[in-house]
Amino acid sequence: MARLILGIESTAHTFSFGYVDTEGKLYSSKSALFKPESGGIHPREAADHHTIKASNLISQLNSDENFDWKDVEAVSFSQGPGLGPCLRIGASVARGLSNKLSVPLIGVNHCIAHIEIGRNETGCNDPVLLYVSGGNTQVIARSEGKYRVLGETLDIGIGNMLDKFARNFGIAFPGGPEIEKLSNQFNTDSINFERISLPYGVHGMDMAFSGLLTSAIRLVEDGENMKSICWSIQEHAFASCIEVAERAMAHTGKSELLLGGGVACNSRIREMAEIMCNERGAKAYWPSKQFCIDNGTMIAELGRRMIQSGIITQLEDSAVNPYLRTDYTQVEWN
Ligand code: ATP
Ligand code: FE2
Repeated sequence: MARLILGIESTAHTFSFGYVDTEGKLYSSKSALFKPESGGIHPREAADHHTIKASNLISQLNSDENFDWKDVEAVSFSQGPGLGPCLRIGASVARGLSNKLSVPLIGVNHCIAHIEIGRNETGCNDPVLLYVSGGNTQVIARSEGKYRVLGETLDIGIGNMLDKFARNFGIAFPGGPEIEKLSNQFNTDSINFERISLPYGVHGMDMAFSGLLTSAIRLVEDGENMKSICWSIQEHAFASCIEVAERAMAHTGKSELLLGGGVACNSRIREMAEIMCNERGAKAYWPSKQFCIDNGTMIAELGRRMIQSGIITQLEDSAVNPYLRTDYTQVEWN
């Protein structure tokens, strides 16, 4: 029977259990998504959701024919970054399971997990990562033992911007997929470039999205067509990310681009990534949608890479860190 690493994700809205075997075969996660009834995500309410869902997710693991508790070799969990109350639920469950199963505990960096699951699933080796999620927007590349942040958002995450725009017009969380749908329904022949002017937020290697959000909301409130604004938001926001990613590839000399994070589910950002890479003789990669959004399997996959390079987390070092940075973690694995 295969030996397994269990991974627990709980940084924000998603509570998820996933696992990989010690050879790196990925299995689908069991996940529960917290959707606020109104407004944004309240950390305490999301944490309560995770607490309530824990037993159901564990039952789903129990009835998974590929999973057996006896095969679990280690338990990894998201140690940060994220919402403190949510992170603490995942960490507590992980500590409890590691203790009950008498196996090591591995605290992992959530952002790096997005990279490693993408490298596993797509087979790319040394990419520039464009990490586009709700809370994070970063362009990352590995150099001298760390994943370095070469550029990032100066204000809100790109997914957050999409979700806030959608919420303003009564579209429930997550807003990104609905904006994509509306954007696809827009006939670009009918665009009026004179009327629709939005800010383009690239500042050197960094990006900004709050100006775009405010302007887009104002245009719809002033009577502009919702579908055209959805299309336009996507064009502006995605182009700014792809521009920074291209500059990062030029500076680092890397010839692979990997997309990661929930916004990487979007077909337009994938298409832009592909066009940019084709133009410079590079190659674009993205994980399947189930592994773009937050999931326990990616936490298990990073845990596997860490334990196989001899890294585990002692109980006394297992406190969560809501402000953990991508470039804080020493990367010992290949
Ligand atoms: P992180 O903690 O890494 O910041 P996160 O908590 O935001 O991640 P993810 O699951 O990585 O969680 O991403 C969720 C985001 O992805 C939401 O903002 C959602 O609107 C966005 N998203 C999901 N699908 C799409 C899509 N098809 N197009 C655009 N955005 C999408
Ligand atoms: Fe994430």
